[in-house]
Amino acid sequence: MRFGYFNDERREYVITQPDTPLPWMNYLGNEDYFAIISNTAGGYSFYQDARLRRITRYRYNNVPVDYGGRYIYIRDGATGKFWSPTWQPVRGELKKYVCRHGLGYSTISSVNRGIEATTRYFVPLGENLEIWDLSLTNQRDLPAELDLFSLIEFALWDAQDDATNFQRNFNTGEVEVEEGVIYHKTEYRERRDHFAYFACSEPVFGFDTQRADFLGPYRGWDDPIVVEKGAANNSIAHGWAPIGSHHIKVSLEPGQKHRIIFLLGYHENPQEAKFDPPDSQTINKQAAKHVISRYLDPNLVDNAFENLNLYWEQVLEVINVHTPDENTNRIVNIWNQYQCMVTFNLSRSASFFESGVGRGMGFRDSNQDLLGFIHMIPDRARQRILDIAATQLPDGGAYHQYQPLTKRGNDAVGSDFNDDPLWLVLAVTAYLKETGDRSLLDEPVPYDNQPGSEQHLYEHLQRSIRFTLDRLGQHDLPLIGRADWNDCLNLNTFSSEPGESFQTVEIHEGDTAESVFIAGLFVLAAREMAGLAAAQGLVNDADDYSDVAQRMENVVIKNGWDGEWFLRAYDNFGQEVGSHKCEQGQIFIEPQGICAMAGIGIGNGMAKKALESVTDRLATSHGIVLHQPAYTKYYLQLGEISSYPPGYKENAGVFCHTNPWIMIAETLQGNGDRAFDYYARNNPSAREGISDIHRCEPYVYAQMIAGWDAPTHGEAKNSWLTGTAAWNFVAITQWILGIRPTYDGLHLSPVIPQDWEGFKATRIFRGVTYNISVVREGLGNRVSLKVDGTHIDGDIVPIPSKGVEDVQVEVILT
Ligand code: GLC
Ligand code: GLC
Repeated sequence: MRFGYFNDERREYVITQPDTPLPWMNYLGNEDYFAIISNTAGGYSFYQDARLRRITRYRYNNVPVDYGGRYIYIRDGATGKFWSPTWQPVRGELKKYVCRHGLGYSTISSVNRGIEATTRYFVPLGENLEIWDLSLTNQRDLPAELDLFSLIEFALWDAQDDATNFQRNFNTGEVEVEEGVIYHKTEYRERRDHFAYFACSEPVFGFDTQRADFLGPYRGWDDPIVVEKGAANNSIAHGWAPIGSHHIKVSLEPGQKHRIIFLLGYHENPQEAKFDPPDSQTINKQAAKHVISRYLDPNLVDNAFENLNLYWEQVLEVINVHTPDENTNRIVNIWNQYQCMVTFNLSRSASFFESGVGRGMGFRDSNQDLLGFIHMIPDRARQRILDIAATQLPDGGAYHQYQPLTKRGNDAVGSDFNDDPLWLVLAVTAYLKETGDRSLLDEPVPYDNQPGSEQHLYEHLQRSIRFTLDRLGQHDLPLIGRADWNDCLNLNTFSSEPGESFQTVEIHEGDTAESVFIAGLFVLAAREMAGLAAAQGLVNDADDYSDVAQRMENVVIKNGWDGEWFLRAYDNFGQEVGSHKCEQGQIFIEPQGICAMAGIGIGNGMAKKALESVTDRLATSHGIVLHQPAYTKYYLQLGEISSYPPGYKENAGVFCHTNPWIMIAETLQGNGDRAFDYYARNNPSAREGISDIHRCEPYVYAQMIAGWDAPTHGEAKNSWLTGTAAWNFVAITQWILGIRPTYDGLHLSPVIPQDWEGFKATRIFRGVTYNISVVREGLGNRVSLKVDGTHIDGDIVPIPSKGVEDVQVEVILT
C-alpha cells in the first residue's frame, strides 16, 4: 500500500493523504538554521544545536502524534467554521490534500470550502530564518472573508531544560511586539544575546503571544478559543508559555489569489549592541528588521527558492546514474545523497526518533557519515574531519561524541568504545581519494582541543592504529572496551541496576573482552593506511601497515573463526560470542561483513563460506538481521543487546547500517546478483509498495527494520539519521556500480546483476566529468576499458592532463 508517489523530475515525494502511518518528515536548512517538518507541518526549528538553541517547542511522543508545528488556521467569516490547511492540528476533512517533500523544502496544499491554500516552507541559503510562503485562492463563486491565524510555540532555548524545569520556566518567558513582528526574548535581558522573531507580510489585525490566552482554558491546538471567536487578544506573555500568532484579515473575490509571507528567524546581536536605546532593556532590532524587510518581498522569496533549487542541482551533479532499476536511480541520484547531507549536518541529533537533546556529533557516526558526503561538498568535509580529529585523545582514543556548538568532546554518552579511532582512518582516506588534496595530512591538529598539542593529521591516524595495537587481549584480538560498532554488545559492563545506562555505567569486572569486529575493522583501516603511505611515498610506513594488517588477519584466521563463519567476540570470561557453541546469538552479521571487506579469508575461502552462512542464516526478505538466534532473555555478560525484545534493534533486528557491508563483501566475491538483491531489500523506494508494513518514509533509509523474531517483521523505525545512508551509497555507487575514487584515478569495476545489459553514469571527479557507459558482453565481471576511444590496460582511468574537462569511458564487462 502507498501513501503517495515519487516525482523524480521535480525531486519530490508527493504524499496524497495526511494520515500516513507515521509522520513523514523532511528537513529544511543546511548550514546553521535547521527545521524538521512533517507532512502535516509538525516539527520544530533550531539554530546549530538542537538542544541548546531550540527555537520552537515540540513535544515528543505526544498525543495525538506530531501535534505542534508551523500552523496556519483559516476561519471562514461567513460561517465561523475553521480548519488547518495542513490538516493538523484541526484534522478536519479536506477536499484535496497534497504534501510535496522536496530537497530543502516542503509544500503542503489543500482545498477546503472552496479555499485553496498552499504553503511552501523553506530556509533560504545563507540565512538564519525560515519562510512560510502561503498562497490562497478563492475557488468559490462568491467573495470570501477570511480570518487567518498563524501559530508557533517558542521553546525557551535549552530544549532539555524547556521540557523539565517548570518551576523556573513558567516565570522567565518574555516577548516584544513591534509593528506586527513578534520577538521572543526569554533570557535576553541576562546572558543570551540571541532572540527569535516571527513576522508577516500582511498588516496585522491582532496578535497573541501567551499560549493560555490563545488557546483558552483546557483547549488544544485543534480548537483555540481565539480562532473559534475570530478575534485575537493582543496578549503579551509574561512567563508561562510564549507563542507567536498573527491575526490577519483577507478578502478574496471569486478566483482571486493572494500571497502572504511569514518569516520565523533567529538573530544574534553583538554583546555591546544588545539593547536599543543602549541603556534600555529593549532588543536592538535594527539588523533583524533589515533581514525581515528584505524577505517579506515576494521577489526575493522567489529568488531564494530558485537559488535553493540551483544549489541542489549542483550538489547532485557530481554523480548521476542511469541503471535498469528505477529504485536505484532515484535513490542514488536524489534521496540517498540528500539523506547523506542531513546525516552529515545533524549526525544523530534531531529527527522524529531522536529528540535533539541527547546526542551530539558521534565520533564513529560522523566519520562514517562522511563516506557518503565528501563528494558533494569536499570543503565542508575537510573542516569536519579537522573538527573530529581535534577531539581525539592523546593516546589515540576518542570521546564518543562532541557538541556541535562548542566542538568539544564530551562524555555524555560514555567513552572507551574501542572501535572509534579507526573510523577516522576511513574518513580521511576517502577524502584524499576523492579530492587528491594531500595538504590535509599536514594540517596541525590538537588532541582533545588542547592548544599546544598540535600534530599533523597523519600522526593522528597513526595513533588511531596504534590505539588498537596497544590494546590486545589474550587471543591477540583487540579489546572491545565499552563496546565496538554495536553499542549494545556490552561485554565488560555487567549491568544489573534497572535504568542504568549501558553506555556510561562503570566497567566493573576489568576489560578483557575482545572483538573480532574491531580486528576486521583494524585490518581494513591498516590496509588503508598502507595504501595512503604508499601514495605518500612513505615506503617503510606502507610496509609496516601491511605487516600489522597481515598479522591481525592471521590472528582472526586462527582465533576468530568458528568453522562456518567469523566469531563475534570473546566475552569477559574468554567465552565465544557468535559461535555455534552458543545457545543464542550463534552468528552475527558484523564480523562477516567487515572481515570480508578487509580481505580476510579471501584466499582460503573463509570469506566465501562466511557470506554463505549469512545468506543461509540471517537474510530475510526485509533485509539481513544482526544475529541469530535472537536473545530471548537478559544476559548479564552481554548487556543491552539482550535487553531488547527479540527482533528489535540490536537484538536481531535488521540493523540496516550493516547490510551494505555484506553487499560490498559480495561484490568482492564477484556476486553481483546477490549484492544487488540485498541492496533492493533495503532500498526504501523498492519498499514503497509495502508502506503499510514498512511505515517509515519510503524516500529515506531507516536505522532498523524489525527482524523475523519480531511480531511486526518488516516494520521500520528510526528513519533519517543513520549510518545506513552513507554505507548504502558507498555500496551501490562504489562497489556494485563500481565507480570508485582512488589516489591514481577513477577505478571502474562494476559487479552488477547478470541480467543487466549495463548502465550509464556521469561522475565529476577532481574537476573532470566522466561520461561512463558500461556494457555487458559476458556474464562475468572482467573489465575492459576504453578511454576516449582508446583501449587502456587495467581498470583505473588515469587522471587526464590539465585542461581536459570531459572524458568518455567505455566499460565492457565479459
Ligand atoms: C546507532 C549508533 C551507532 C552504532 C549503532 C549500532 O546507529 O548511532 O554509533 O554503531 O547504533 O549500535
Ligand atoms: C545506539 C543503539 C541503541 C542504543 C544507543 C545508546 O543508538 O542503536 O540501541 O540504545 O546507541 O546510546
